Amino acid sequence: MSRRKIVAGNWKMNMTPTEAVKLIDTLKPLVASDDVDVVFCVPAIDIIPAVEAVKGTNIAIGAENLYFEDKGAFTGEISADMLLDAGVKYVIIGHSERREYFAETDETVNKKVLKAIEKGLTPIVCCGETLTQREQGITIDWIRQQMKIAFLNVSAADAAKCVIAYEPIWAIGTGKTATSDQAEEVCKAIRDLMREIYDDATAEAIRIQYGGSVNGGNAAELFAKPDIDGGLVGGASLKEEFGDIIAGSTCC
Ligand code: PGA
Repeated sequence: MSRRKIVAGNWKMNMTPTEAVKLIDTLKPLVASDDVDVVFCVPAIDIIPAVEAVKGTNIAIGAENLYFEDKGAFTGEISADMLLDAGVKYVIIGHSERREYFAETDETVNKKVLKAIEKGLTPIVCCGETLTQREQGITIDWIRQQMKIAFLNVSAADAAKCVIAYEPIWAIGTGKTATSDQAEEVCKAIRDLMREIYDDATAEAIRIQYGGSVNGGNAAELFAKPDIDGGLVGGASLKEEFGDIIAGSTCC
């Protein structure tokens, strides 16, 4: 089965609303494609102008986080309904930076995944190992545990529509990309786990991205691997180079 590739930019805490609109205007001709899903995951305050700026293009807007409650006394948080009403389609959940700096756990990730699905947002569910874990040889065990908990109580039909992002923490923002074989090994293990939890059809439908220092030079090789269906891109999504990454996902 051939899965449609999906390449998402993760802007992190970059770009004011004014800068966001400028960047979108620069990138939109460079990322135009009929063959790949293109998503810009932007800071919450940039969402409304970004949705306006991408009108009439192939770019979908994503959020970088959501809260799992519907509404109420949760100062500073943003609900799924707020994101939907603003025009958001995707939401990154459980990025390693949120786990490290904002105390997200596998359990809160699971609650957020369930809420995103309930409301009709597509979650981009992140997992990844540290360098120490990789050196200890526990990468696959660790990723399996993260993903098993993230997908607790998610039905096969809903899981099939999710996106998973495998992002080795040692490769994020470091310029040290995983080799395409290292990335493929883990993405394949994630697909095998989905087959174990669900079934063949679900495992074949779910899209699995690689993230961690993806750039214009390495994207094509990574995305050509059988179990890598695109990328989650940080630094390079803020540059014209993002266009080369989109081009790299259509080459094979
Ligand atoms: P990077 O970030 O591409 O800058 O390594 C990836 C990510 O954190 O999603």
